[in-house]
Amino acid sequence: MSRITELIDKLEKDRILTKDEYTEIIRGHTPEDDEYLFEKARAVREKIYGKAVYMRGLIEFTNYCKNDCYYCGIRRSAKNAERYRLTEEQILQCCEKGHELGFRTFVLQGGEDGWYTDERIVDIVSRIKERFPDCAVTLSIGEKSRESYEKYRKAGADRYLLRHETANNDHYRKIHPPELSPENRKRCLADLKELGFQTGCGFMVGSPHQTPEHLAEDILYISELQPHMVGIGPFIPHHDTPYAEEKSGALEMTLLMLGLIRLTLPDVLLPATTALGTIDPKGREKGLLAGANVVMPNLSPRDVRNKYLLYDNKICTGDEAAECVACLGRRVSSVGYQLVTDRGDHKAN
Ligand code: 5AD
Ligand code: FES
Repeated sequence: MSRITELIDKLEKDRILTKDEYTEIIRGHTPEDDEYLFEKARAVREKIYGKAVYMRGLIEFTNYCKNDCYYCGIRRSAKNAERYRLTEEQILQCCEKGHELGFRTFVLQGGEDGWYTDERIVDIVSRIKERFPDCAVTLSIGEKSRESYEKYRKAGADRYLLRHETANNDHYRKIHPPELSPENRKRCLADLKELGFQTGCGFMVGSPHQTPEHLAEDILYISELQPHMVGIGPFIPHHDTPYAEEKSGALEMTLLMLGLIRLTLPDVLLPATTALGTIDPKGREKGLLAGANVVMPNLSPRDVRNKYLLYDNKICTGDEAAECVACLGRRVSSVGYQLVTDRGDHKAN
């Protein structure tokens, strides 16, 4: 037994380690330790969710954004981004197509775009819930007031994704402009949970200035928040941002984080993200084998796919939704899991 495998055993038993212990794993893990961790992560995930992999239909409905996050390809200063908005009808058509393909969760994701007032969001959510009562609606539209979140919830939104990006406040301030604050980000997540959303936070691995200690703090924050979902993907540079020349996050570190999160929050819903599939042709499969149990194929209309580019070289921008579903079905099966079409609610719900 190495020191790292001992720590992994301890995590499996206690569901939590100290910051120093997480940091020790993050700094010292070998490929053998990773295999040891992933095997345990799979066992935990299979005990709760079996071999099922849930799918979420991602609808990227606007790439306008009032924010200017230094890492993001649709930040307001990215002057070359070709901006678009989907109409309510277009969004409903995406859902229609998705429903036929077996999707029972729709994720409406966009930049922070003032054109979509609370009233418009409420209207869209209500219409989707009315037309597809068997489906869950997830919103991923950024930081809002508690009152706005409450309106969305009343309109029928079931879930909300808002990555915390980094739990360390100094790190947060380094990768965001001064008008964005880590305090407000965390306030949003606390409100969302209190309002009864199945809530997702998450972070990028390998973002500029990130240290192993920061990653350990991310896990501790997640353990405290107890979210229902955690989105983790590698940072990937976008050519039209201040981080154009930075390195991408590493595959191995992203997989390690997936495994550690799975052991820390056994029943969490954990996507194998598109960014993971972008840095490695088998990234999503490797993610599933490290403890992930969700995939999020793109349902956006094909003509806007290549405009929602948060980072360079994003995969699946030229494929029809049906192609992505078929492709993902094959990928999921290739590692012994099964793509399923139910809502895939968190086990506690
Ligand atoms: N690389 C990887 N992920 C990114 N995101 C934004 N920009 C990038 C990038 N350059 C992630 C953020 C955001 C989510 C929607 O996409 O974590 O919350
Ligand atoms: Fe989109 Fe494979 S998942 S083409």
